[in-house]
Amino acid sequence: MLKLALVFGTRPEAIKMAPLVKACQGVAGWDTRVIVTGQHREMVDQVLELFDLEAHYDLNIMSHGQTLNEISERTLRGMAGIFREWRPDLVLVHGDTSTAFAAALAAFHERIPVGHVEAGLRTPSVQNPFPEEANRRLIDVLAHWYFAPTERAAENLRLERVDPDRIFVTGNTVIDALLSVVEKDFEFTTPELRRLDFNRPILVVTAHRRENWGEPLTGICQALLEISARSQMQIVVAMHKNPDIQAVMKGFLGSDANITLVDAPGYKEFANLLARCTLLLTDSGGLQEEAPALHKPVLVMREVTERPEALEAGTVKLVGSAQDSIVTAVLQLLSDAQLYQRMSTAPNPYGDGTAALRICAILQEKYK
Ligand code: UD1
Repeated sequence: MLKLALVFGTRPEAIKMAPLVKACQGVAGWDTRVIVTGQHREMVDQVLELFDLEAHYDLNIMSHGQTLNEISERTLRGMAGIFREWRPDLVLVHGDTSTAFAAALAAFHERIPVGHVEAGLRTPSVQNPFPEEANRRLIDVLAHWYFAPTERAAENLRLERVDPDRIFVTGNTVIDALLSVVEKDFEFTTPELRRLDFNRPILVVTAHRRENWGEPLTGICQALLEISARSQMQIVVAMHKNPDIQAVMKGFLGSDANITLVDAPGYKEFANLLARCTLLLTDSGGLQEEAPALHKPVLVMREVTERPEALEAGTVKLVGSAQDSIVTAVLQLLSDAQLYQRMSTAPNPYGDGTAALRICAILQEKYK
């Protein structure tokens, strides 16, 4: 019998791990448990409820204004307790958050093997995105199994001399999650989203990354005001729960009639909004994978991306966070039908929605 722990703490990890939890809990004879750190509280609870997941352990670590060291320290201590008491045979972590890194380190210290889901993503600089690039590299130093979403990610790992027999190309589980919640005749429940006119163009915006806190976020807000004044778009900003980010966004954008601010919409609401929008402006990592699956062009407000596959496929474009370059890129995409067509029909490089089943099948083979 395999004792398997799946750990997550933030919303994106919860979404991307949900299909894998379901798949592994379906394997007879396995004791598959979910450990939530609670790095995010409301945003993770929404996902647990949506996918009908139960947390067997919840460290409940979130505090407002938490620092990276506080997240890591509380996770490390909490995980150590659980690992010592329950002793799983394998711990699966996801991606690049502080939850994932601290959980991987705690497992490593307890000599419990770690499987890294979404392994092998890289940018050239350990500082960017901060601290995620460091987190994912550190996890890959500690891990035993590597589930790479793409061939490119697997190649990054081989270049770092990871044993090729421990690397598997599986696709990204986010596509599995996304396809399970997008519905053709979806009815929104969020009042602000119900009021949108889906026959008119919609620009969806998200911004939360640490590199964009401060001046860049101001530039992003000013760009949105300019786009609002110069186009017919309805602009929907899906705000992160971080109160500091919300304060800036509400201050700049709260009184513009074309701009709708929505407080951290649930995943199903957001995914269905994405499915109905014209284009997406974001600094998120995961959205660079999801939007192409829904055939939506993505303009990324970052200088670098760890997801070059989407860039190469032509569905994603990097625009940085300067006001001028954001405005120019959005207006160009709206006025150039050929460019829009090219970006929205590019192939999705992140898989077909069966990544979780693949990972589960690999584990069944390795732990029979
Ligand atoms: C974290 C991840 C980032 C990921 C992002 C997704 C790290 C270092 N960063 O960043 O990689 O892209 O999650 O959202 O792990 N908050 C709430 N309720 C919630 C969630 C957040 O109030 O449900 C507020 C809290 O005040 C918290 C703040 O948001 O202090 C920031 O959350 P934190 O997890 O520290 O950083 P994120 O920017 O969300």
